[in-house]
Formats: sequence, C-alpha cells, structure tokens
Amino acid sequence: MSHPNQTLHAAMLGTGMIFDETYRPFFEQAGYSRFLAGDCVVDVRLAAVGTRSGTRAAAYAAVAPPRTSGFQSLSGPDCVGRLLTTPVDAVCIATPDDRHFPAALAALTAGKHVLVEKPSVLTLGEREQLLAAARRAGMLVKVVYHKLADPDHKKLRTHVSDGTLRHVNTGYCSLLEPRSVSRDQFAEWIVGRNPATYVAVHYFKLIDFTFGPDWRLSRISASGQRGIVGAADGPTFDSVLTHVVYAYPDGREAAFDVHTGWVAPDNFPGYVDQEVQFRFDNAVWNAHQRKRGVEVTVEGRTPHDLKETPNHHYNGTFLEPWGERSQRGYGIEVVRRFFEEVAHVEFGGPAATRPERLTAMTALRYNDLSADRNVVAVVQAVEAILAEQVAGHPGSVVFVNHPRGELVLYRPGDPEPVVLHAGAGSANPVSLR
Ligand SMILES: NC(=O)c1ccc[n+]([C@@H]2O[C@H](COP(=O)([O-])OP(=O)(O)OC[C@H]3O[C@@H](n4cnc5c(N)ncnc54)[C@H](O)[C@@H]3O)[C@@H](O)[C@H]2O)c1
Repeated sequence: MSHPNQTLHAAMLGTGMIFDETYRPFFEQAGYSRFLAGDCVVDVRLAAVGTRSGTRAAAYAAVAPPRTSGFQSLSGPDCVGRLLTTPVDAVCIATPDDRHFPAALAALTAGKHVLVEKPSVLTLGEREQLLAAARRAGMLVKVVYHKLADPDHKKLRTHVSDGTLRHVNTGYCSLLEPRSVSRDQFAEWIVGRNPATYVAVHYFKLIDFTFGPDWRLSRISASGQRGIVGAADGPTFDSVLTHVVYAYPDGREAAFDVHTGWVAPDNFPGYVDQEVQFRFDNAVWNAHQRKRGVEVTVEGRTPHDLKETPNHHYNGTFLEPWGERSQRGYGIEVVRRFFEEVAHVEFGGPAATRPERLTAMTALRYNDLSADRNVVAVVQAVEAILAEQVAGHPGSVVFVNHPRGELVLYRPGDPEPVVLHAGAGSANPVSLR
C-alpha cells in the first residue's frame, strides 16, 4: 500500500535548554518522527528558528545533522514577525515564561498552529486572547506538560480513573532545581522571576488534570523566600511554597502544597529533586523521579557530567539493542504527539471534515490551552501574591470564582480586595484598584 507524503514545516522560537533536551532530538530523528495521518506519511522539518541574538542558533547550525541544518535563522527584537513570514505550519515557543504571550498571539494571528512551553501564559486575560485568536484562525494552541506523560504519573491517573485510588484529600509535590539554573542558565532573564511560575506549573497541571475536572479551584496562597538569587527585599525569589485548595461538588475540599526552588546545591546527587505524595480516602501514593531504579557513581564524572540518580524516562541517549543510537523519553514524546495532532487536523481526512478533526484535537485536556484555565489562574495568583510580598504585604490569599470576580486577591488586614481578573460572569466586573 502506498501513502502520499506530506511535510509539516516547523518554526522554533528560543533555542535554550529545553530546545536542546526535547525539540532538537525530535527534529533530528528523521525515521522516528515520521508518522501516519489518515492515508498520509507525515514528515516534520525544522524550517526556521528565531532567537534574540542568533548565537545559539548559529552554534546549532554548525553541528546539526543535514536533516536539520538548513533552517532559516532569524534574530533580533523583530525576529518573531520575520519568522512568521516564512512558510511554516506550526510554531514552537520556548522563550522565557513572560515572553510566551506576544509570540503566541502573533503566531496564531498569522494562521499557525502553536505549541508553547509551560507556563502557557501568565494571566487569564492572555489565555482568553489566545483562545479567541486560535478560534478565529482555526488553529491549535497547545501547552507542553511533559510530566503528564511520565509513566508513573500516567499510572497514577489510570488508578484514579479506574477507581483504585479514591478521592484525593491532600498532597505535596516538590521540585528543587540546582543553584546553577538561577545563577548561570537563567541569569539573563531571572530578575523579578520566581521558581513557582517556572516549575510548579508541572505539578499544578498534574493535580488539576489527574484529579479533575469534577471539582472547582477554590483558593491559592503562597510564600516566597529571597536573599540568595537577589536581595532579601527584592523581586527575585529563591524558592516558593504554594498552597492550592480545590472544592468538590459535595463540599469536601482537597489541599496541595507545592514546593519549588532553584537554589539547591549544584552537587545534589540527582541534580533536580522531584517527588510527590498524594493521600486518598483509601490510599497513599508516593512517587520519586530520581529514586526509581538507577544509582550510578563514576570517578570524575558524577554528579555534574553524569547524574547520580538519572531519570531515563524523561530523556535518555541510548544504544538500542538493535545497534542504533537513539534519544528518547516522554519529554520528546509530547513534542512528537503535538505534531501528530497537527497532522491529524491537516491531513487526517478530507478538507470538508477538518473542523471535526480540529474539534477533536482541541478537546484533549492534557495539552489544549482551553483546559489550562486553572493552571493559569494559579500562576496569575502566585505572581500577584509574590508582587504583594515585594510591596510589603506578605500573606495574601487569592479566591477563585469569588462574588467580586473570577480571581480576587485579599491582603491580610485589608477588607478591600484586588480584582485580578473580573471574568465575564462576575458580579462586579470592575477593577477595584
Ligand atoms: N517542559 C519543561 O520541563 C521545561 C524545562 C525547561 C524549560 N522549559 C520552558 O521553556 C522555556 C524556555 O526555557 P529554557 O530553559 O529553554 O530557557 P533558556 O534561557 O535556556 O533559553 C531561552 C531561549 O529563548 C530565546 N529568547 C529569549 N527571549 C526571546 C524573544 N523575545 N524572542 C525570541 N527568542 C527569545 C533565547 O535566545 C534562548 O534561546 C520556558 O518557558 C521554560 O519554562 C520547560
């Protein structure tokens, strides 16, 4: 049986750490990245790259295999606009978290499918604008939450779905990045940023996706620590503890603490420490991403060059039993899956039924921006709570679907709230400050 060939042309915005770990191997693996959509065999080509300086893109082009080395490199402050004039079908956005929104909006407006790194955007208002732009353009806008594809987290959700684990009540998640991340890797954009927005979103999404959607996000509080990355009274945070509460329809509540930081010692054995614990009516689930099998020590190489407790599920380079070299893992799998979804929309059947395919792909809660409301709400709340802390008002609480608005912040001792997002259906859609 012969299949017509189709090619999806992709653009990449940002070629930093996450590009190296997940997108680059995906684009490079020619045979591995080809797949079927309807009757078509679909290939994905990296056609264009946009970055601030062009230095990293040039460095990559110099070592890239022939399959990816021919991309067009655009740099400078107007690189997004110029990149969108190239004939690409989809744009992947892996710029720092506070720069996702304008690029995503421009890409959707230009009629491109969009895949954006977590956190998708920082406010509910931005999310609504992107969804409206995607609807107008008839394009997908998806977010990368690769931890949902971690086999341990998939099994957790399977047990919840099957009723083996019943009714989550409380839990904690922890993700601690080494000091080198805040000191070196993110030095260019870290001022005024915090590790909760950057990494706690993985767990906000895991909780929301795994245990929802039949509950309601109720309230958020957070406490940030400062003094290592920046000044003790400055806007840059070392670590953040976020507390998120959901309400079930029957009035019961579930509460979660998410610990994040980017100041752990650089010689921490696994490099990044990640664990979760969830307590149910009938069970306790503990999962640790470093301590699930391998521990290795090599003179002169661990823990920096090689990790002591590596997570090979996320991303690993392997010599396959059949002799090939490969790089695979769930970090790469979710990028491939996005392109499969785009290919299904574009090539999965006759043009007349494209709207049905688009609707089906948009209904996927794990990555569609339409299902990202609660995560974006928590992110916006955390950002606002930390801003209040910087302004000398620690201890604020944000309420969701409050009578005064969709997202409403109360500072301790101040009866007047700040409406962070009025929301279409709020009783008082007027910003109070
Ligand atoms: N899925 C994950 O687990 C994961 C892991 C790391 C990072 N990320 C996310 O990926 C994004 C990037 O993180 P990173 O670690 O790769 O960061 P990085 O600092 O290593 O790289 C950022 C890249 O963005 C480019 N850039 C910055 N501003 C730009 C602009 N205005 N226009 C075009 N390019 C611009 C820089 O040139 C650089 O290539 C962040 O949103 C982060 O949250 C996700």
